Amino acid sequence: MRRKLVAGNWKMNGSLSANGGLLADILAGLGDVTCEVVACPPFPYLAQAQAMLSASPVGLGAQTLSEHPAGAFTGEVGAEMLREFGCRYVLVGHSERRSLFGESDAVVAAKLAAALAVGLVPVLCLGETLAEREAGQTEAVVSRQLQAVLDRVGVAALSGGVLAYEPVWAIGTGLTATPAQAQAVHAHIRACLAAHDAAVAAEVRILYGGSVKPQNAQELFGQQDIDGGLIGGASLVAEDFLAICRAAN
Ligand code: G3P
Repeated sequence: MRRKLVAGNWKMNGSLSANGGLLADILAGLGDVTCEVVACPPFPYLAQAQAMLSASPVGLGAQTLSEHPAGAFTGEVGAEMLREFGCRYVLVGHSERRSLFGESDAVVAAKLAAALAVGLVPVLCLGETLAEREAGQTEAVVSRQLQAVLDRVGVAALSGGVLAYEPVWAIGTGLTATPAQAQAVHAHIRACLAAHDAAVAAEVRILYGGSVKPQNAQELFGQQDIDGGLIGGASLVAEDFLAICRAAN
């Protein structure tokens, strides 16, 4: 039985005062939430979030990391630093990192390996663009993205891990994959894992991301292979984020 997980990816949003209010409101409203909840603020706010969340059931994650452990990499943040600030999770290969910052499948795999090396749980993001979907390449694209990681770390390394299927065309657009569309890709991803190791495939949690809202969360999370959500815009509004968390109960 996979415990549902709902993670908020704040992207490059927030301020000390806004975050303080958002996290306080989330903590105050957690009473009837039973799924695992995670917040992924921007790097400068990790210390603030760590202070507010360390004694709470809400976990902390970062949005990316360097593939290098330490050294002359100006502007980068290493896995060990994230751990020191209380992170348990780190997003790897979000489509915005892939498309805007040129992260190739190989770089994503290296980042995932760097996260695993210090005991962080990587949340590996997979997803196709609209052009790829329209060309019938959805399964081929997510298979390729997943295989790059499997080639690098092996399937056993994903045991207990988390993946996120985020169709690029549904991110921040208001367009959501239908529950059936999302379920089909989630099932495909799980089948790819099962081809390597059925036990790992059965336990890996696969989140859906892309315009998840209180109105559509329950139906998405009700699909057999959807184990929760990776939430962008709606994670910045405590009431909406909490409603999505409750939908995962
Ligand atoms: O990682 C979350 C994401 O990319 C989805 O963003 O704003 O469509 O929920 P949003």
